[in-house]
Amino acid sequence: MRHLNSLLDLTPIEVETIFGLTRSLKERSKRGERPQVLSGHVLAQVFEKPSLRTRLSFDAAMMQLGGSSIFLNAKDAGLGGREAVEDVARVIGGYSDVIALRTFSQKLIDTFIEYSGVAVINGLSDERHPCQALTDVFTMQEVFGDLTGKKCVFVGDGNNVASSLAIAAALCGMHLTVCAPEDYRLEEKFLNALTKKFPAAKVEQASSGSFKSALKDAAIVYTDVWTSMGQEAEAEERQAIFGPYQVNSSLMKLAPKSCRFMHCLPAKRGLEVTDDVIDGSQSIVFQQAQNRMHLAKGLLLWVLEKSV
Ligand code: CP
Ligand code: NVA
Repeated sequence: MRHLNSLLDLTPIEVETIFGLTRSLKERSKRGERPQVLSGHVLAQVFEKPSLRTRLSFDAAMMQLGGSSIFLNAKDAGLGGREAVEDVARVIGGYSDVIALRTFSQKLIDTFIEYSGVAVINGLSDERHPCQALTDVFTMQEVFGDLTGKKCVFVGDGNNVASSLAIAAALCGMHLTVCAPEDYRLEEKFLNALTKKFPAAKVEQASSGSFKSALKDAAIVYTDVWTSMGQEAEAEERQAIFGPYQVNSSLMKLAPKSCRFMHCLPAKRGLEVTDDVIDGSQSIVFQQAQNRMHLAKGLLLWVLEKSV
């Protein structure tokens, strides 16, 4: 049984297989082809948090591949205590071939993997966002080709998006520098697990006083919201702390002209990124967002062990 829980579970060859499927399906989609390889298959999406891209990209991917998608919010699924989570997982698994989850706790996803009996995809948890990071690296490859030795600079919160990007970078031989305020960096425990799995990984954390020097050889500048879903009570405090980490035109000028700007979206314009950067010529955020659907197709085929 294949799952996508953490990118730490994947090998570079598996990532290349997912990307190969994604590339092929994207090409075919551009030609108007809709191979019905998932005909009769059902995806159940169970989300505890809001979503535009993740939910819609999986819906569209399933429909274009001939399958169906069913959405349940956490309350309707009964995850609020109506019955045991293990029972919910078993029941949903009995009606579907694959389950995509968006959760607060990582443990909920682990429980579904243990009890549902079907393929499970992590559609974001407080700790991880593997579908996003795979799409990001796929998009970077479209723009730059081989990523070996290329440098991505993540400016902002060392959150779920940053940590999954760090693993994706290691899987593709890319360098990642995280520029985050002192208490918001990637955790040491996580970095130790990453370097244990990928000893050649080059993931650095810039010191808060001099993080801007990391930009001089950046191929990509990446940012995400300062306040993630579930952290709303900290929004004001975070805005004050993250102010110096805003990606604006002065910050982008510290990077080469060829540098591209990426953001997983949704963006809080005027906070972590200014309009002129996100709407500017270096931004590839909508190519990145659109690729979520193509990657969802490649990933669904991979977890379901199908080919095109
Ligand atoms: N990037 C991303 O996961 O977007 P949604 O929260 O809209 O799904
Ligand atoms: N870090 C953000 C990503 C949203 C796609 C969050 O968890 O809310």
